[in-house]
Amino acid sequence: MKRHILFVDDEPNILKGLQRTLRSLREQWEMAFAEDAATALERLEKESFDVIISDMRMPLMDGAQLLRKVQEKYPMMVRIILSGHSDQEMIMKTVKSAHQYLSKPCEKQALIDAVTRACYLRDTLNKKSLQYVISGIDTMPILPALYTRIMAELNSKDASAASVGAIISMDVGMTAKILQLVNSSFFGMPRHVSTPMEAVVLLGIDVVKTLILSIEVFAKFRETTMSLLPVSKIYDHCVQTGAIAKKIAILENMTKEESDNAMIAGILHDLGRLLLADNFPDEYREVMAYVKENQVPVHGAELKILGVTHAQVGAYLLGLWGLPDNIVEGVAFHHSPSASIVKGFDLCGLVHVANLMEHHEQMMSGGWDKLTGVDTDYLDQYDRTKRIPLWRDSLRMK
Ligand SMILES: [Fe+2]
Ligand SMILES: [Fe+2]
Repeated sequence: MKRHILFVDDEPNILKGLQRTLRSLREQWEMAFAEDAATALERLEKESFDVIISDMRMPLMDGAQLLRKVQEKYPMMVRIILSGHSDQEMIMKTVKSAHQYLSKPCEKQALIDAVTRACYLRDTLNKKSLQYVISGIDTMPILPALYTRIMAELNSKDASAASVGAIISMDVGMTAKILQLVNSSFFGMPRHVSTPMEAVVLLGIDVVKTLILSIEVFAKFRETTMSLLPVSKIYDHCVQTGAIAKKIAILENMTKEESDNAMIAGILHDLGRLLLADNFPDEYREVMAYVKENQVPVHGAELKILGVTHAQVGAYLLGLWGLPDNIVEGVAFHHSPSASIVKGFDLCGLVHVANLMEHHEQMMSGGWDKLTGVDTDYLDQYDRTKRIPLWRDSLRMK
């Protein structure tokens, strides 16, 4: 399938440069170029595009304004900012509307990777339902208590990366958003950063402050959501699942990076659930009623009522934001790791098992022998079923 990509930049030389470097991709990419935002918008009226890649500083209408318009009119389009490093402060204006940031001059491979990865999950999901759901998601809900805590910490004189990072890692939405920023190639980090603490160190407290205090990315959970779902419990469940996934990764001798990523995938695995419930309260009420009446798992009911599951929605957004592939896959396949195309026991398996173990621990702490609901085909395939007792016992050791 050919991708349609629109580049916008007020400097003709930059557009020409892009055209030249990307010529070898013309079999896969259909590319168009516009020298200002108005021309870009006209173009979008006439043709449909998968991706828009825009400069930030442009006369009349800048990149932030352009992407906001595109977000309103064409919510499914992948929106990328391609900008110079001096624009760091302006970039914060696009945190709500851009999916990714690339820095100028941009390496060809970084650009190809960003586009390919951002398009990948979209292709595999039910477009209509996803479009409906994604366009309805506006803000990232966060827990009122944590919101108050992070505000106080950021405003205090002794705020440190450690103290701020620790609060962020207790919040599903803030963790997702800060990792989106730090992993965007715009900030030029040498490798993927997967802990909120590292992210705060690298971005600096000021950027984090701007992100959390002055942009309306985050909003407290709506009252209706709080009455619909045991939000605090789900938070605990997510944070615990992250801790368990990391523990298992260590027991399985995975690398430090893999076990850090396992923790993040665990924390983020039910992000989609929080987003769906908060942004679609009416539909989600139906989902919950359907679960009760038919005794089916939540993701089955979501598929029936909304056409997508929380695993798909969460993974889709995280993928779009450029989080590491294995984190995105761990979230996407946490209910059924054998559906993943990745071979080997990896984050999909870890998050899957950690999620179930967490539920079992909640229901019968210390009292379960058999892990029900587990994807046995998957665990057998990688010879891991026999490891479950060991994993379980490691949780009980203080
Ligand atoms: Fe889930
Ligand atoms: Fe879960």
